[in-house]
Amino acid sequence: MGVDYELPNDNRKYILGNSSSSIDELEILQQKEDTHLSRTRRVKAVLYGVGAVGSLIATELLRRKGVEAVGAVDTAEEKVGKDLGDVIGLGRHLGTAVSNDIDSVLSKVDADIVVHATSSFLKDVYSQIVAVIKNGVSVVSTCEELSYPYATDRRSAEEIDRLAKEHGVTVLGAGINPGFLMDTLVIVLTSVCQKINRIEVKRVMNATTRRAPFQKKIGAGLTVGEFEEKMRTKIITGHVGLEQSIMMIADALGWKLGGIQVNAVEPIIADRSTQTQAAKVEPGCVAGLRQTAMGMKRGKPIIVLDFQAYVGATEEYDSITIDGTPAIHEKISPCIHGDIGTVAMIVNSIPKVLNAPPGLVTMKDLPIPSAWTEELEPT
Ligand SMILES: NC(=O)c1ccc[n+]([C@@H]2O[C@H](COP(=O)([O-])OP(=O)(O)OC[C@H]3O[C@@H](n4cnc5c(N)ncnc54)[C@H](OP(=O)(O)O)[C@@H]3O)[C@@H](O)[C@H]2O)c1
Repeated sequence: MGVDYELPNDNRKYILGNSSSSIDELEILQQKEDTHLSRTRRVKAVLYGVGAVGSLIATELLRRKGVEAVGAVDTAEEKVGKDLGDVIGLGRHLGTAVSNDIDSVLSKVDADIVVHATSSFLKDVYSQIVAVIKNGVSVVSTCEELSYPYATDRRSAEEIDRLAKEHGVTVLGAGINPGFLMDTLVIVLTSVCQKINRIEVKRVMNATTRRAPFQKKIGAGLTVGEFEEKMRTKIITGHVGLEQSIMMIADALGWKLGGIQVNAVEPIIADRSTQTQAAKVEPGCVAGLRQTAMGMKRGKPIIVLDFQAYVGATEEYDSITIDGTPAIHEKISPCIHGDIGTVAMIVNSIPKVLNAPPGLVTMKDLPIPSAWTEELEPT
């Protein structure tokens, strides 16, 4: 039997797989009042932002049987008007042109979900998310600050929640980090603890194999002077999300923090020459960066996050250390690949978002994250 998900707000049912019948895909079964199933169709998704990550997500969605991409939106001039298949490098046409107008796209298609991947910052995505909500469609977004927007701007977060409830839709910010490795996974591990004194999370990744925008974001290839200037002028941002992860963990544990201390971003200097897809990194130049942040209680750090991403990192890992009862030392080595993990987190979240109550939700509010196990086979 497949797993049934009741959708409380509109009497629809989303079913994930069903090995006892010919239905082997995520389907929406629209129920009539007499409970006889009247319609069977695939989940309709609109891609909002088809850059590096949006294109990878689109490719993965197209591989899954139960989802179809019914529209795509991006403001990049070179993408608007082009076939989605060309924009994401699929090698074939999909018959869907990329538009620069989300309202126009959503007015023409009966979308179930918008998969959003345009920007890291709440102030930039706020109007985009609100536009989707007002069209009555749920959203799952890669926006880092949306993963726990209460850390950035509580008023905007509450307004998104209010509007989503008003329009009967669900909004989730997700991804690998923030969204999983430095927050959700930590929260899950704490469930076996009777007592917790302190949590330390470390992610060390080799940026050589990551997408070009990520390498740019961490300053790979810049001189130290260029790095400092671009950081100062916010042309490069580094990793976004440590505050969001800390606050999500603290709220899940019911910890009242005295504050969150975000330390200055430190460049990591290359000791050898490396050529990547996006940058030539010379010895003495910036290979990437280290960012740390701490959740403080009574002047002491009780949640410590340490993020390092640089070209040429030889040991890659994700580690979580909980000083508690029992003590926990978890290590994933090599670290989870950020792009693969992000795409999986976003796509795997879709059924959970479609079945969540209306409003702004975060990863800690949803059922335990999982893959759609019956959907992983290529079509
Ligand atoms: N939470 C996580 O774990 C996680 C993981 C990976 C990525 N992310 C985040 O996801 C976002 C997307 O990443 P990416 O690498 O795909 O970035 P990207 O390559 O820059 O792609 C973003 C695309 O969205 C377009 N865009 C920007 N503003 C838009 C708007 N208002 N309406 C429609 N399209 C718009 C951009 O066009 P222009 O190029 O013309 O601006 C670009 O084509 C980034 O902020 C990234 O940091 C989060």
